[in-house]
Amino acid sequence: MIEYVKDRLPRRVRRSLALTRIASTSLKHRHKGYRDFMLSSYSAVNRLDRSYGRPVHLSLEPTNICNLRCPVCETGNGTLGRVKRHLGIDQFKHVIDSMQDHVNVLYFYFVGEPFLAMDSYEMIEHATRKQIWVDTCTNGEFVDAKNLLDSGLGRICFQLGGMTQETHETYRVGGVLEKAVANLAACVEEKRRRPDCKTQIKTGFIVMKHNEHEVDEFVRFAKDIGVDAYEVVDPAVRTLEEGDQFLTSQDKYWYYDREAFNQGILRPKSPSNHYCEWIYYTTTIQVNGDVVPCCRDPRGVHVLGNVFEQDFVSEIWNGELYRDFRHMVAHNQKDTGICDLCSGYTAPDINRHDPVQILPAIQPVAPRLEPEPAGVLV
Ligand SMILES: C[S@@+](CC[C@H](N)C(=O)[O-])C[C@H]1O[C@@H](n2cnc3c(N)ncnc32)[C@H](O)[C@@H]1O
Ligand code: SF4
Repeated sequence: MIEYVKDRLPRRVRRSLALTRIASTSLKHRHKGYRDFMLSSYSAVNRLDRSYGRPVHLSLEPTNICNLRCPVCETGNGTLGRVKRHLGIDQFKHVIDSMQDHVNVLYFYFVGEPFLAMDSYEMIEHATRKQIWVDTCTNGEFVDAKNLLDSGLGRICFQLGGMTQETHETYRVGGVLEKAVANLAACVEEKRRRPDCKTQIKTGFIVMKHNEHEVDEFVRFAKDIGVDAYEVVDPAVRTLEEGDQFLTSQDKYWYYDREAFNQGILRPKSPSNHYCEWIYYTTTIQVNGDVVPCCRDPRGVHVLGNVFEQDFVSEIWNGELYRDFRHMVAHNQKDTGICDLCSGYTAPDINRHDPVQILPAIQPVAPRLEPEPAGVLV
């Protein structure tokens, strides 16, 4: 009955109720950043130009360089249009130290392979010491199990492109499945040797037309290898042509509107509608320090400031460019040019990283998890 009534409430009221519930949970648990989270909830529901809370989630790009050439990824297909480089350890520390009071979760990747960065493990360790839970995903080819678990990382996801070398490299172009799997197995093994280790080890399968017949095999693989969780990742594409090439025959892996697709329009099933939580709770920083609204802006179309030249909280977060961007989303979202293909997933809540709520550390592997918020190409 309550659900029936809830479903008939206007969308804005439903959002307010949901965010009030999430914000009050955060008040109860008082996770780091909970005050900011509640203030941002208020700002998001009212679609204000300012966010009264500071970001609790941060995506920071350790590198925009990669060893692979995945055809939909802007780094992989060579259309990124940004100077290729790694983040320096001092630059990383500068960002983390200036945001440590409010950042609760660090997404340690954007477009590039995080474990190609010069000092990835030291970076993760530094953030962890500042009470920031670190989440990352990887193509798996450069991960060192011992260094990884020494770093105190919160979670890692090894994303595979297939169960055979042939299917894997169809999308993970230049990738070697055996290498990724060997490193994943080494991490699981290393974790077994450390009963107190809290790092969650996860594997993902980017399901596409050429590998959808392998999903059951992937699930068996994930269970056999002993990961904490696995996930089948819905494929993202940028164009109808890529859709024809990569989207699956089965509807269940589509977050695009299939009927519209058949009529020549690429759009998500539930597009954003002048409402976005990401721009109130999270921020994304590219390797050169440029701040962009979210993971939908890999090329840096909307640079809202630079953390190596400005103070993030006093000059960028509610500066004119950020305020204009929030205003545009609330009133003329089409004009942003980056929201059209956004999946419209809601931003993760502040408790997301709590291992008890995601998966107890060592447990039978979970079924399909909810879609990843950041970094998953959307
Ligand atoms: C750009 S990658 C960067 C991290 C790392 N290099 C990797 O590939 O895992 C960020 C995420 O996007 C995912 N991804 C890449 N191409 C995708 C696609 N076409 N559809 C869905 N997810 C994709 C990756 O698996 C990864 O989880
Ligand atoms: S998706 Fe990841 S592995 Fe593939 S090219 Fe992009 S950054 Fe590299």
